Amino acid sequence: MSFTIAIDGPAAAGKGTISRAVAAHFGFAHLDTGLLYRAVGARHLAGAEPVAAATQLTAADLEADDLRTPEVAQAASRVAAIGAVRAALVDFQRAFARRAGGAVLDGRDIGTVICPEAEAKLFVTASPEVRAERRYRELREKGIETDFATVLADTRERDARDMGRTDAPLRPADDAVEIDTSHLSIDEAVAAAIAAVDQAMKERTT
Ligand code: DC
Repeated sequence: MSFTIAIDGPAAAGKGTISRAVAAHFGFAHLDTGLLYRAVGARHLAGAEPVAAATQLTAADLEADDLRTPEVAQAASRVAAIGAVRAALVDFQRAFARRAGGAVLDGRDIGTVICPEAEAKLFVTASPEVRAERRYRELREKGIETDFATVLADTRERDARDMGRTDAPLRPADDAVEIDTSHLSIDEAVAAAIAAVDQAMKERTT
């Protein structure tokens, strides 16, 4: 049996943490689709043509250790605006979503474009200031020197590009449950997500 949970939202809203916790709770597989775009972005920064990089993406590319830097995040957001890059990554994501045993996919267009038929859809969001603050702390903890104003500007720039692109722009699916994590603890956000998925499972069986 397959059951797809689509979790979309802007950068640093808590999607990753929530997705991992939801996948662990239900015993589902998890795919962080941002990693696919980050891997293409990183290969592009290293000189590859983005569409070729997307078409030839390998498992090893997803394991590169510098995929979490701000430079790679911006490069990912830029290559993600190219329609042919997105098209090259569709089949892999859809196959993952339909694997037996259930799957959680997190990204920007999972509920709208990749899996519009997903059984449960969440849109995880938070204010730009809260998201930038979280990202700022994360980067500082990793020893990356930066300041809050730069991280906030970076967050807004990525939001604008991800929401403004023509191909699969970031937006909530009409039937997504929205979770604003601005004033929630991690435990509260995870509980809200699990409750929304439980509800979707109940609706499916009744
Ligand atoms: O989720 P993330 O921050 O790792 O994503 C990095 C970039 O990849 C993001 O700014 C836009 C792009 N992306 C996308 O366009 N579609 C997805 N499903 C996931 C990420």
